[in-house]
Parts: sequence; C-alpha cells; structure tokens
Amino acid sequence: MKTIFSGIQPSGTLTIGNYLGALKQFTELQDEFDCYFCIVDEHAITVPQDRLNLRNNIRSLAALYLASGINPERSTLFIQSEVPAHTQLGWMLQSISYVGELERMTQYKDKSEGKEGVSSALLTYPSLMAADILLYQTDLVPVGEDQKQHLELTRNLAQRFNNRFNDIFTIPEVRIPKVGARIMSLQEPTKKMSKSDKNVKGFISMLDEPKKIEKKIKSAVTDSEGVVKYDKENKPGVSNLLTIYSSCSGESIEDLEAKYEGKGYGDFKQGVANAVIDVLKPIQDKYFALLESDQLDEILDNGAEKASFTANKTVAKAKKAMGLGRVKKKK
Ligand code: TYM
Repeated sequence: MKTIFSGIQPSGTLTIGNYLGALKQFTELQDEFDCYFCIVDEHAITVPQDRLNLRNNIRSLAALYLASGINPERSTLFIQSEVPAHTQLGWMLQSISYVGELERMTQYKDKSEGKEGVSSALLTYPSLMAADILLYQTDLVPVGEDQKQHLELTRNLAQRFNNRFNDIFTIPEVRIPKVGARIMSLQEPTKKMSKSDKNVKGFISMLDEPKKIEKKIKSAVTDSEGVVKYDKENKPGVSNLLTIYSSCSGESIEDLEAKYEGKGYGDFKQGVANAVIDVLKPIQDKYFALLESDQLDEILDNGAEKASFTANKTVAKAKKAMGLGRVKKKK
C-alpha cells in the first residue's frame, strides 16, 4: 500500500481554504493509502506564538481533523513535537540545504518581508518540512497549491541525499486538487485566503456559525456585471465563489453557471452560503463533541507511538548513511 503524509500548522482556526485544499482530500484518500496526518506545531513556532493559544490550537486542530472525517483506525494522527525524529532528520537535511535555495522560497519571502527579528527557523522551515515527509517513505503529499514549491525542494533534498550518501528516501509526488487548490480571500480575491488575515471578513473559519458564514459570503467582493461566470482574470471574486460552491456541493462549475444564468448575485451568494454551511455544520457538531471527550488523548498517544516506530527506523538509516554516531565494538 502506498503512503501519504501531510501536515497542517496549528496557527489559528482553519479556514474553508485549508478544508477544500487539504483536509477534504485527506478524508477521500485514507481508504486507499497508508496515511500519516500531522499537527505541525514545530513549524508554527517559526513565527512568535502565544503559548496558551498554541496549546489550544493544537488540541483544536486534532479535533478538527477527526471531525472532518479522519478515521484514527485507518490513519495515523499525531503531533510533530511528540515524535523527536522530525527535528533529528530536519537537522540532517539542513546540513545539505543551501541558504540560496531556502531564500528563494516565496513563503519565506512573504513572511519575512519588511519584518525585523526574523527567526532562522523561518528560513530553514522547508528542511524540516522535507524531513516530515521523507521520514515515512511517503509516495504522495496532498496539499494546496501554495505548498508546491516546498514539495519541489523536498524532492531535490531527497535526491541530493540519496546521491551523496545512500539511496534511502522515496521521492514523493505532490497531489493538488483540481478544484479548490487555491481559495482566495473574500475581500481581496487576488490574494490567498489565509487564517492569519487581519481582516476577518476575508476568510471563513471552519468554526464560524452559519449566520456569520452567510454574512461574510454576502459581503464578498464581486463585480458590477451581475453575471455568474467563471473568469479568473476579469471576475476573480465570482470565480472564487464558484470554486468554493463547486468544491462544497460537488456540482461542476459549468452546471452552476447554467443554474444561475439570468439570476443576480443575491441568489448566487445565498446558494454559496448554503453549500458551505451544509459542509461545515456537521463538522462543527462533531468537533464540539470531540473536544469534550477523552478519546482525543488516546488517539494522539497511539498516533505518536505508531509514527515514532516508522520514523525512528528512517532516522537510524539516515544517521548510518551520514556517518553519525558510532558502531559499537564487538565483544
Ligand atoms: P498550512 O498550515 O499553511 O496549510 C495547511 C494546508 O492547507 C492548504 N491551504 C490552502 N488550500 C487552498 N486554498 C487556500 N487558501 C489554502 N490555504 C492553505 C495548504 O496548501 C496546506 O496543504 N508548510 C505547511 C505545513 C506542513 C506540511 C508538511 C504539509 C509542514 N510539513 C509536510 C505537507 C507535508 C503549511 O504551512 O500548511
């Protein structure tokens, strides 16, 4: 059976973008693959975090994974910092990463631009991400479009390691969904929807109440044409709403264009809101029940144990290949 790995940062409540770009794919793939899903808390600390918020976000993300349909009987769900192999291999991969290639990462440029006191971990973040993936001999990594560049670097690092030391890593492929790979901000539809956006009207959080979702979608920026048509260049707002609608309802974009032909944006936006609420409401109900249950700790303990078992084997191989540690003298 082929292996899947993916991770999400616990850096705020997930948006509908995280759901459609990542989580939704995860739940669809878990029956066909051996899956590892990770709460990447060590990635979150590459920018300053409030410790109590971070702790809450980690638990909340675990509950959201499960509420979205991750089945702990089939998939391994765990917290990155509870499996030390991640930082161990991360360090080894840093030693073969070039500063130049790390500086070229657009996520690094975006997050560091104009900031003072940028952490060195923000620069070396992709080497840790590569370790996350390579530890599990991953075949496929389901992510949104913004992670494509990091995946290319991961493949390069794996190939570089294999060529320089020993052929121990599987070279992973990226999997990006056909619809929903890049959900845009509702207020600035040429910008990616992000959970750290200062303007809360720009994103739909997975935990927003139905009334709030409706309000945010009704105030989404569109255009003055009044025609429901997919045209990313000239109608980014409407195109983004069509993508969200199609991805949530399963109806094709062409069918939705036909459904709203001759109707205004009011009807259309109501349709988008209903489709989003139909997806999120059941997840929210399960989420709140899970947060209250004792199941969560047991699932995360088992997940860390299972992930460590596989990850430690890879670390041992990588150490041997690089000449770290020692070989004990035979008695
Ligand atoms: P993160 O936490 O920013 O996002 C988690 C996942 O959500 C996707 N995503 C989106 N998809 C569509 N539209 C959007 N607006 C949108 N915003 C986010 C992301 O592409 C991602 O799949 N570096 C990663 C976390 C990570 C990881 C890994 C991922 C660490 N190690 C190993 C895969 C494999 C990140 O910051 O994702």
